[in-house]
Amino acid sequence: MAEDLHIIEGSKKDKYEAIIPQLKGLLEGESDQIANLANIAAALKEQFGWWWIGFYLVKNEELVLGPFQGPVACTRIRKGRGVCGTSWEKAKTLIVPDVEKFPGHIACSSASKSEIVVPLIKNGEVWGVLDADSEFLEHYDETDKQYLEQIVQLIS
Ligand code: SME
Repeated sequence: MAEDLHIIEGSKKDKYEAIIPQLKGLLEGESDQIANLANIAAALKEQFGWWWIGFYLVKNEELVLGPFQGPVACTRIRKGRGVCGTSWEKAKTLIVPDVEKFPGHIACSSASKSEIVVPLIKNGEVWGVLDADSEFLEHYDETDKQYLEQIVQLIS
């Protein structure tokens, strides 16, 4: 397993193209889900410098905070609540350019201005979500959606 990531400068696409093979290397041969989620969160934080990046996992009909990088966050989110709970309910990626315009957005941190949430789906069931938050408006777009959906496939 690589001990250090190779972090690059460049376009968003270049950064994803560089980090995905490294993520594959990090996950290779490791079956522990928490270890893998933790390394994905750390690698994405290091490459992109997002304000918050992490996972919520479905436990007893709630999303419960999982491995993450960034400031402390809300621990439990109900289905249909906030961006995460809505992504879970709809089993769809949600790009939120301005969190203040998303009805019911859960503000774990007032610094967060935009957000993307990608569901983790296995055998047609959502078992968690990846959530990335930025302190900048309109930070996430279709490129993030496309690559983050590829990344969650690595662990689904
Ligand atoms: N904003 C999210 C809650 C999770 S935090 O951003 C880490 C939401 O509305 O579901």
